[in-house]
Amino acid sequence: MATFNLNINGEEHSVDVDPSTPMLWVLRDHIKLVGTKYGCGIAQCGACTIHLDGNAVRSCQLPVSAVADKEITTIEGLSENGDHPVQKAWLEVDVPQCGYCQAGQIMSASALLKRNPNPSDEEIEAAMNGNICRCGTYIRIKKAIKMAANSKIA
Ligand code: FES
Ligand code: FES
Repeated sequence: MATFNLNINGEEHSVDVDPSTPMLWVLRDHIKLVGTKYGCGIAQCGACTIHLDGNAVRSCQLPVSAVADKEITTIEGLSENGDHPVQKAWLEVDVPQCGYCQAGQIMSASALLKRNPNPSDEEIEAAMNGNICRCGTYIRIKKAIKMAANSKIA
C-alpha cells in the first residue's frame, strides 16, 4: 500500500492503495465517483474513459501510480453544472438508450472536440472507434458530436 495525492475534478484526494490499483477502482470504490463505468476491464470498450490532463484514457488499465501530478477529470467533473456543450447536445439528440456506455462516450467526445473543435466524419469515427455501445447508438452519437462542434462552444 502507498499514499497517493490525486487531483480529481479540481479537488485534492488522498488514497491509500496498492500502486497497481487501476484508477477505475480508485474512483469508484475509494472516491465514490461511480459515473465512470466498468465494462470489459481490458481497455477494449471505453466505458471507463476519463480525462488525464485533458486527454481521453481508459481508467481500467491505468494504475494509480501513473497519474501522480496529473489532472483527472471524470464525467462528474466535466462541467460544474452538467451543461458542457457535449452534454447539452446529447440531451438535444436524446442519444442514450440503456445509458451504460454514455459517460465514456461523452468523455471521449469532449476530449476530441477540445483538441479538434471541428472534426470531419472520419476524425469523429477514428476518435470514437474505441467506445463500444451495445445498444447501437452510434448514429445519434455522431449527430450529437456534430451539433456540439457546430455550437462553437465546446
Ligand atoms: S472497462 Fe475500460 S475499456 Fe472497457
Ligand atoms: S446506450 Fe446502452 S450500451 Fe450504449
